[in-house]
Amino acid sequence: MRPYRHLATKLCAGSHGASIVVCRHNANRGAIPRHGSDLRPRVCMSSLVAVNTSRRLHTESIHSNKGSLSHFEIRTDGTHPAIFSSPSQGNSAALEAIPPIWLRDNCQCSSCVHQDTKQRNFDTFELPPNLSFQKVEEAQNGYQVQWSDGHESFYEKDWLARAGLKETSAIQQGRAPNPVLWNTDYLAKEGAPSVQYDAVMDPTSEEGVREWVTAIRNFGFCYVEGAPVDPGKTQELLERIAFIRETHYGGFYDFTADLASKDTAYTSIALPAHNDNTYFSDPSGLQMFHLLSHTEGEGGASLLVDGFSAAKELKETDPEAYKILSEVPVQFHASGNEGISIQPYQAFPVFLLDPVDKELIQVRWNESDRAALQIHPAGSQKWYNAAKKFDTLLKSAKYEYWEQLKPGRPLIFDNWRIMHGRSAFTGKRRICGGYITRDDYISRFKMLYYGPEHVLKNIHVGA
Ligand SMILES: [Fe+2]
Ligand SMILES: [Zn+2]
Repeated sequence: MRPYRHLATKLCAGSHGASIVVCRHNANRGAIPRHGSDLRPRVCMSSLVAVNTSRRLHTESIHSNKGSLSHFEIRTDGTHPAIFSSPSQGNSAALEAIPPIWLRDNCQCSSCVHQDTKQRNFDTFELPPNLSFQKVEEAQNGYQVQWSDGHESFYEKDWLARAGLKETSAIQQGRAPNPVLWNTDYLAKEGAPSVQYDAVMDPTSEEGVREWVTAIRNFGFCYVEGAPVDPGKTQELLERIAFIRETHYGGFYDFTADLASKDTAYTSIALPAHNDNTYFSDPSGLQMFHLLSHTEGEGGASLLVDGFSAAKELKETDPEAYKILSEVPVQFHASGNEGISIQPYQAFPVFLLDPVDKELIQVRWNESDRAALQIHPAGSQKWYNAAKKFDTLLKSAKYEYWEQLKPGRPLIFDNWRIMHGRSAFTGKRRICGGYITRDDYISRFKMLYYGPEHVLKNIHVGA
């Protein structure tokens, strides 16, 4: 396993003389492009299935995200052995003691972690205040610790090495393993990602679902080819990923343009690229559209824009604008239905960044539903300037990917990354679809892509 290649251990056994030096040198093994890396065709569409189903890719990508320097050292400090670690990246000289409670709190033993629920099975705050190591011994793949209160813990070297590493949080958060930030040139050349309905619905295997959610995670969207033109079957298809989210518009929907829900989505006018559910604290992670029929008219082409790709260009060309859109809090609302006015519990910036590594996590963009900027109006000009720049990118031919939806070819996309819209249309259009919450989509992706063993092993590791 790659992360342990850099582990060096040294041990002097003895009840109070134990010292373990665990060194993990920084290795920027950036073989995997992350959001913010170059737009590079990573996967040829014709080989999409082959690449995405490769287990080799799975283990490599876990460990080849940019690593952080973690230096662990267990050594005697006066009377008791203690763990030391370098809290800052790239500075292994600045070691600080880790309080023993951190290790004990994260004890992985079968009495500390409930083996069925994986939940913590003890009360951390009932532990003796002066908890210390009595003894530390090296075993083949880890360290046996005897505590002053008699408890014994075993810490795998593997686990210890991952504590505080960036790739651990990549697994926890279900980051895209091989993200392809696309533009229209890319899609014109490579085609849009798609999977086969029959593979996804195969009752004997989840392999098709794994391909599907992996493609969605990497590209932000995916078509399903060969689906029955049937709302019930479409609902079943969506439920292969997770249960459908109920909102004030309902759950699984099947509608024609009739303004029943007092939202522009239910009309026939053009809709510029937007994210749905910006008015929720937790906008849906996935949305599916399946055009069942379009009669007595024309138009209504579907628009997709890769918000992460456009954000990356903004960051490169105008870092200040990117910064403003990632800092200024903006409110959104849904108030068109009788008796309902939904707003997030707090205003969020257009670009939601991970607080630790500043990776772009979510784009929240909806001009119709945008409410107030949560800053004093006197300071708002810079936000409008930045937003205008982003809007110009979103409306450029470089990013506007148009395609006509077809019956039998449902579209699903990641609503935290991809904006959608449509051109105006005439006639009657019947569309069905639904939302899936992001947490449930990511859970499904993680468990299928990384595998339960890997995911569960990383739950209790953190910095
Ligand atoms: Fe929408
Ligand atoms: Zn334990």
